Amino acid sequence: MRTPGLLFLLAALASVAPVVSSAADLARGRQIFETNCASCHGAAGKPDLQSPVVQALAVKPANFSDPLFNSREPASHWQIVIAHGGPALGFSELMPAFGEALGDEGVKDVLAYSRTLAGAHDYPDGGMNLFLSLRTKKAFPEDEWVWKVRHTDKDGPNQWRNTLEYEWRIGTRWQGVLEASHIIDGSRDRFDVVEPGFKYVLHHDASAGRIVTLGGNLGVPLRSDRDWEVLPYIAYGKVLNEQWTLQTSARLKMSLEDFDHSSAEFAGTLHWTHTISPRAVFPGIEVVAEAPFERGPGVSAVQVSVLPQMRIGLSKRGHVALNLGVELPVNDSYRYDWRGYAYLIWDIADGGFFEGW
Ligand code: HEC
Repeated sequence: MRTPGLLFLLAALASVAPVVSSAADLARGRQIFETNCASCHGAAGKPDLQSPVVQALAVKPANFSDPLFNSREPASHWQIVIAHGGPALGFSELMPAFGEALGDEGVKDVLAYSRTLAGAHDYPDGGMNLFLSLRTKKAFPEDEWVWKVRHTDKDGPNQWRNTLEYEWRIGTRWQGVLEASHIIDGSRDRFDVVEPGFKYVLHHDASAGRIVTLGGNLGVPLRSDRDWEVLPYIAYGKVLNEQWTLQTSARLKMSLEDFDHSSAEFAGTLHWTHTISPRAVFPGIEVVAEAPFERGPGVSAVQVSVLPQMRIGLSKRGHVALNLGVELPVNDSYRYDWRGYAYLIWDIADGGFFEGW
């Protein structure tokens, strides 16, 4: 299997690229915070609502001492806001730009100190909230809506599949998932499946940029020719360096009605994160290998496909984004000629749909 091998080769190459970031000076960060930020944000990161300065602000700063708020977005977003001011990510201009006054090092130091204001906690760091891929499962738990459209071009009637997905965080490491799909093939249209599910973060380490998650969905069929399914998976996310991220997942699709309808699926995606600005185009390449349990003539033991794709950050905050891609079969191409995908993602914790553009 050459293609997954290629993906890991790319990952290996990416991981030897040098990471140029020096450790931040927290003592200096604290000093900068107390002099420049505390008047609005409060010395401990919680704005003092009795203070006349805070009372005069039309938009009240959020509470940095709240661990969920402090952890959920990547530090790189805060870096942009501190250096370039609130409007850089569609926030209020009441948040001034400090890039010139503090310099790059000063911004990094005060950023690092701001991230410590929530104390020790068990929320996974938003830096490991990697871009949603087309098929690889995502490890980071996030509050989001996703609308996915998939077009399958094949012999016989082509198929359109629409899926709406809602995900919500529960506590520090859990997430609930609800998905519903509808398909149109030829002149027939019908509801296909509803999938309630969960995610649980088994392991996360912000300094290593690593997260491992266990998840599972139950496939409840909405049409008679579909099986009940159980779909457990394990997902791994890794920030390789400032330029590359890797995500992999292994999933079982188990039919509860006929074991032969089951399969095992392995997927991996590399994204090129060439800028910290969320409103940009990020190319990615994904490989999927699926092993059907039923062997038959002309069915390969492992069915492979490749999915070049790109994440397009639409809002300044990147909390509304589009992911476009195609899936091309490498073998067993009787399955389909090609598939086109479009996902619209809205990270609801980062603002309303129309905020932050
Ligand atoms: C004049 C008051 C003021 C000062 C001084 C100030 N901020 Fe802010 N800051 C704000 C306000 C108001 C917001 C909220 C903007 C919004 O939600 O639209 C904000 C937002 C932020 C955010 C974005 C949080 C998010 O919602 O994602 C960060 C990070 C931040 N400030 C860090 C700092 C740091 C670090 C300093 C000092 C170097 C600082 N601020 C100084 C008023 C201030």
